[in-house]
Amino acid sequence: MPRDHPPSFQRALLPLRFFVGGTFLFAGIDKLLDPAFLRMTGPGSIGEQLATYSRISPLAALVHAVALPAPLLVGVVIAGLEIAAGLGALTGLAYRLSAVIGALLAGTFFLTASWAIRPYYLGADLPYLFGWITLALAGHGGLYVLGDSVERAFSLAPSPAPAGLATDRTRRGLLQLVVLAAGSLSVAGIAGTLSALGPAFGSEPAPVAGPDGGSSFPAPPGGPGTSPARGEIASVATVRALRSFGFIDPASGDPAVLVALGDGTIVAFDAVCTHAACTVAFDRLSGNLLCPCHGAIFDPTHGARVLDGPTDVPLLALPIRIDPATGGISLAG
Ligand code: FES
Repeated sequence: MPRDHPPSFQRALLPLRFFVGGTFLFAGIDKLLDPAFLRMTGPGSIGEQLATYSRISPLAALVHAVALPAPLLVGVVIAGLEIAAGLGALTGLAYRLSAVIGALLAGTFFLTASWAIRPYYLGADLPYLFGWITLALAGHGGLYVLGDSVERAFSLAPSPAPAGLATDRTRRGLLQLVVLAAGSLSVAGIAGTLSALGPAFGSEPAPVAGPDGGSSFPAPPGGPGTSPARGEIASVATVRALRSFGFIDPASGDPAVLVALGDGTIVAFDAVCTHAACTVAFDRLSGNLLCPCHGAIFDPTHGARVLDGPTDVPLLALPIRIDPATGGISLAG
């Protein structure tokens, strides 16, 4: 059992405790209220995020084996654990366990969501990780703890016999854990119910940015006044005229984009940003692909390499085939 530090030490940590606790509580509720998050596909969805992490994270094998088969469950579990860690920090219930859960979450976020951020200190998850570790090591020092009230409410009087101290401690720990779990489930249940009631309570779904900055990915025309042949996305003439063309990759379900380069060459990329799975959009002015979420810029003329932003992983290139007779473009392979 770690030795408790004097309360003045924990008093100095109160701003950290309430900030990380409040932020994790908010983040968990926000995820459950966000209709874009608990989805298999789409910008900001847990499905898209996990698919991105399965490509770029050092935990890729784990994400692939454990998380990708059940993205919605993973999203709910993450939100629930964030709520539990946040409530534990704010109330002092099961405090050290909550801080350990917070540290594990922040560490996982660092190895997935923040892994592609360069330089590393621009990512937010490492400071949270060390904040939670500090709280776990320090304990709450008896400051602002709901534990006593809970024990009184459940008439859990301390045992006068020294032999009963260990038993008391176990009972108290279990009681705090049960109350924290019940509180977390209640908060998550309320957030989930409000989200199910409709957009008046949840955040608006994130718009699906088209590659031209439009609001959706259009059905693929084969060219002015014509329909594309089966399997074709668009015609060379169309893409050159529009400069870019959005479509959904049928193999992955991801938004994707065809871009006509200055020399007339046409290239295709998966449009899911390699930072946190927002959908990139083609910018006519610069000729680059821009991410609306955190400003990543990808250069389509050089394999969508990163020009700027919190990732250094290029967009996934999609090989294409062009029918020399019709000029129809389709995905190769
Ligand atoms: Fe963060 Fe694209 S999702 S820069």
